[in-house]
Amino acid sequence: MLKRKDLLGLRDLGRDEIIEILDTAKEMKKKIDNPALRDCTLGKSSIITLFYENSTRTRMSFMLAGSYLGGIVQDLGVAASSVSKGESLIDTGLNLDKMGVRFMIMRHQMTGAAAVLARNVNASVINAGDGTNEHPTQALLDMYTIRDYLGGFEGLKVVILGDISHSRVARSNAFGLVKLGAEVTLAGPSTLVSGSMKSLGVNVTSDIKGALADADVVMGLRVQFERQKNMPFPNTREYSTLYGINSSMLNYAKKDALVMHPGPVNRGVEFASDIIDGPNSVINIQVKNGVAVRMAILKLLYEAGASTDR
Ligand code: CP
Repeated sequence: MLKRKDLLGLRDLGRDEIIEILDTAKEMKKKIDNPALRDCTLGKSSIITLFYENSTRTRMSFMLAGSYLGGIVQDLGVAASSVSKGESLIDTGLNLDKMGVRFMIMRHQMTGAAAVLARNVNASVINAGDGTNEHPTQALLDMYTIRDYLGGFEGLKVVILGDISHSRVARSNAFGLVKLGAEVTLAGPSTLVSGSMKSLGVNVTSDIKGALADADVVMGLRVQFERQKNMPFPNTREYSTLYGINSSMLNYAKKDALVMHPGPVNRGVEFASDIIDGPNSVINIQVKNGVAVRMAILKLLYEAGASTDR
């Protein structure tokens, strides 16, 4: 059983904990389409989302997940909060703690910000993305989707393509997928993928066709222009020509390879539009699974807290 106060990353999550989250998410998914199955699992617990960076999928799916399980969900609205007057992250968290908040779900531009908050508040902190470090709930929903379609992870060839060096999604997926037995290859232009990432137990390459050969899963990543100091390639047209995936590139992967992307997608840059909307794509299904996985995490952390002195 998940016995932790916070969910900060997949680096420190065990195999059994990952499986428990995925199994629980399978149960939770039924509640998305059938409101009659929604209940008060979270006992009207207060849930606050604090997003210091923008989000559509993660923020909304956490807000809906909390609502579907009977939580009281609010968004801090960081831009309109006293953060703009210079209030520190820890002081913001301590104030929310005093208001009886049970869950703080935070995205922050600083690596380690979620861990800092978690050390200083009583609430359970869920990392919704911290700098270039981790995005654990994205990786868990990706893993849920892969397991749902392909039955497991052992021996699967998963290729993650694109802006690897700025990607918390790539790091969290690498931690989780390697733990569950998949072979992970990180591929992209040499300016966006570093050989040092081999320490995660993955292959690293700039040979895109070689990486795609016989892949079971092709996961594209957005080029994160907002995190670049210098342009890592001459222009987006050149990037899409050399590193983008179109139907002839996808032919190098297995015929039924899953096409995945965490979103938001730059159409025509990392993937051609016909790949995004094509028969191999599970990109929209990932979004739905994200609600189920986030429900599972809220439920399991709530139950873990109920069984310990908080
Ligand atoms: N995948 C993801 O984190 O999307 P958002 O930035 O919209 O939350």
